Amino acid sequence: MATLAIVGTQWGDEGKGKIVDILSEKADIITRFQGGNNAGHTVVINGTKYVLHLLPSGILHEGKVCILGNGMAIDLEALVNEIEFIKRIGKNIEGRILLSERAHIILPYHKQLDLASEKKKGDGSIGTTLKGIGPAYRDKAGRVGIRIADLKNPETFKHRLIENIKEKSIILKYVYGFNPNLNAEEIYSSTMRIFDKLKPFVSDTISYLNEEIDNEKSILFEGAQATLLDIDAGTYPYVTSSNSSALGISAGTGISPKKIKKITGIAKAYTTRVGGGPFPTELCCQLGELLRARGHEYGATTGRPRRCGWLDLVTVKYSAIINDLDSLVITKLDVLDAFEEIKVCIGYKFAGTSVNSFPSTVEQLSKAEPVYESLPGWKTETTKITEFEKLPENARNFIKFIENYLGIPVSLVSTGPQRSEIICRKNPW
Ligand code: GDP
Ligand code: IMO
Ligand code: MG
Repeated sequence: MATLAIVGTQWGDEGKGKIVDILSEKADIITRFQGGNNAGHTVVINGTKYVLHLLPSGILHEGKVCILGNGMAIDLEALVNEIEFIKRIGKNIEGRILLSERAHIILPYHKQLDLASEKKKGDGSIGTTLKGIGPAYRDKAGRVGIRIADLKNPETFKHRLIENIKEKSIILKYVYGFNPNLNAEEIYSSTMRIFDKLKPFVSDTISYLNEEIDNEKSILFEGAQATLLDIDAGTYPYVTSSNSSALGISAGTGISPKKIKKITGIAKAYTTRVGGGPFPTELCCQLGELLRARGHEYGATTGRPRRCGWLDLVTVKYSAIINDLDSLVITKLDVLDAFEEIKVCIGYKFAGTSVNSFPSTVEQLSKAEPVYESLPGWKTETTKITEFEKLPENARNFIKFIENYLGIPVSLVSTGPQRSEIICRKNPW
């Protein structure tokens, strides 16, 4: 039995989709364990770009089973569209997609509440993807959520839906001053119509996964978002509403923590963040714009420009500890090819006092002054290099600096968006 988890170590968009696609080759099963279509995972194969929001990034490999785990929040229509897309590009999906009957569903009121709550927060908004993620997880924790399994029992579903709509309409109207646009009958029938298309995929994925682990199958866990967006470990409240670090794997798949054998983190060679919240190494200058332009840093889900800054090893170290990483993958090394000088944050100063641990509150983090180590750039194109020893010396030193600081090996280095643009030093499996 082999189990490997891939998690983001920063604020998302580290290139998880690309790396999961590559590592899927050795997997029998690839499973998401949290989040929903707030994720946008990009895979580029032979020049064609695919962006996946709900289906695991292993779906582009024929024959692999892809699971939407119980910890996810599912927008049914978005899932149907994604499955249709996969069929349109000629992939056989027969028996390859399993949707947990325990996963929660996102309903129109969740999206309206997401928007209303963001509007009310004004300048202090989280900058969510407006996909209804937060309100759906709030219902889950409040025990009024509706799960895939509930749709198999239309009477119960209708009753719960009507009750929820009554409550949400009051909140939308009186708390947020929003005109609720929620017709129970319409939502009921459109949900049932969409669910009809998904019925063949619904499964008890907890039993399936545990049985397949006993059958010695290889399982790859695909994290969405990242450790710093984790509801418990992240920069709360500027986080998503699920456990998007390795902490969420067991809860979101129904597999014992004892069975998760290896965990690999992904970090960009610099840092990005979409939405609000403190970001100590953010570059609000030409250098930040250069990173954005070279890295094409625009959200794969919302198209928003991503905030860009230098690599912050304090945050990655914090993620390495929380996830107990076996190895790290560095992506987007090529984006730094044009830089004369590369800075790496190795500590924070608070009012002149040095600290190298990650603060627990955003109030503290927003006061952190980064302490930088300056490394020489390599000013040479690294895309297409597939052997570590062929990288320019300064690029190798950059990777070694990261390894020394973190005390964990860098297993893969990504030098371009394409599946083929990868340096493998040690297979994370
Ligand atoms: P994810 O959410 O972690 O899967 O990452 P996204 O797909 O949202 O964002 C990563 C972006 O960087 C995508 O456009 C990828 O195609 C691209 N990408 C991934 N790895 C590399 C790399 O090594 N170099 C470059 N230049 N782009 C990359
Ligand atoms: P992938 O999987 C980057 C951010 C949003 C916002 C916060 C909460 O592609 O890395 P939400 O809609 O989840 O309630 O938004 O989290 N966010 C992401 N940022 N990558 C993502 O996913 C993200 N998913 C959510 O921008 O700041
Ligand atoms: Mg993304």
